[in-house]
Amino acid sequence: MIYRYCGASGIQLPVLSLGLWHNFGSVDDFSVARQMLLKAFDSGICHFDLANNYGPEPGTAEENFGKILRQQLQGHRDEILVSTKAGHDMWPGVYGTGSSRKNIIASCDQSLRRMGLDYVDIFYSHRYDGVTPVEETMQALVDLVRSGKALYVGISKYPLEQQRRCYEYLREHDTPCLVSQYRASMFNTLARPNLDLASREGSGFICFSPLAQGLLTGKYLNGIPEDSRAAKATGFLQRTQVTEPRIEASRLLSAIAEERGQSLPQMAIQWLLHDERVTSVILGTSSVHQLEDNLLSIEGPDFTSDQLSRIEAIISRDGLTL
Ligand SMILES: NC(=O)c1ccc[n+]([C@@H]2O[C@H](COP(=O)([O-])OP(=O)(O)OC[C@H]3O[C@@H](n4cnc5c(N)ncnc54)[C@H](OP(=O)(O)O)[C@@H]3O)[C@@H](O)[C@H]2O)c1
Repeated sequence: MIYRYCGASGIQLPVLSLGLWHNFGSVDDFSVARQMLLKAFDSGICHFDLANNYGPEPGTAEENFGKILRQQLQGHRDEILVSTKAGHDMWPGVYGTGSSRKNIIASCDQSLRRMGLDYVDIFYSHRYDGVTPVEETMQALVDLVRSGKALYVGISKYPLEQQRRCYEYLREHDTPCLVSQYRASMFNTLARPNLDLASREGSGFICFSPLAQGLLTGKYLNGIPEDSRAAKATGFLQRTQVTEPRIEASRLLSAIAEERGQSLPQMAIQWLLHDERVTSVILGTSSVHQLEDNLLSIEGPDFTSDQLSRIEAIISRDGLTL
């Protein structure tokens, strides 16, 4: 594994992290979830990305993660960085969603209970909710750190203006923003300004959905496989998002990957990490085989400038952003 320092901090992250958004919930096969998590840990992936609402059922990814920690990784807590988040819909009533102080503090307590932990390493505000003042949310994060429930804080998906304000507020309150998390892939480059800002301000940067939920794997070239995320009732990727322009672009990108002697997912992940300001890319996998495939992304050959410009030409086509 390769590790990079997270912004201007003393914390290193593996360039590949493992995310538990899909495939770790109560609807999923627990033994596969356990195998993936242990394979990741044995491969040097020491950072696991969760959120209160991951499942489904919401909360069950944290419960399963806690179970694996207790059953298989006893004694390894200090080798592992655990991240979780709050801000999306979680429990009934007006306090079960959004980025209010009430939601953030209660969510953290609930997540700690579900995982069986005394503290999380990183607690994120999962989103800017469009209403709650940034100051209210950031002060809640600061207080989680001061109360010992979180070691570091992060933000996820904040628009540029609010992102800047978060960094200012957190710095003024002696709790610098360790890391900022944004959707980023060959099919989504909208977060480039957020990366510029994070890097200037000393925050680490994490890319999520690096394979556009599977569209950058080649699996949809000949239709929608039955066991794929787009086909599953519980998957976040909709069938309607598997469009012809995306399929055609992934076909063209696959040809470049083949030339480079790697799979499309490997190339898509390596392409994100090619920018040294990216601290880590969060993998999502539904099998150990996929994880093994993606782990090889850090062993690919350097990109030539010709390959980079051909990739850029393909991904700047219309209709790809997801
Ligand atoms: N902050 C946020 O708001 C936010 C939002 C979304 C995600 N995240 C984080 O980012 C993590 C990753 O997101 P993601 O799951 O959307 O990532 P992704 O890499 O874009 O998609 C993962 C899916 O692609 C398919 N796949 C992965 N590797 C493959 C391979 N080698 N060959 C074939 N198919 C492969 C699998 O889908 P199949 O089911 O089709 O096999 C897998 O579940 C999440 O777990 C979460 O931790 C954060």
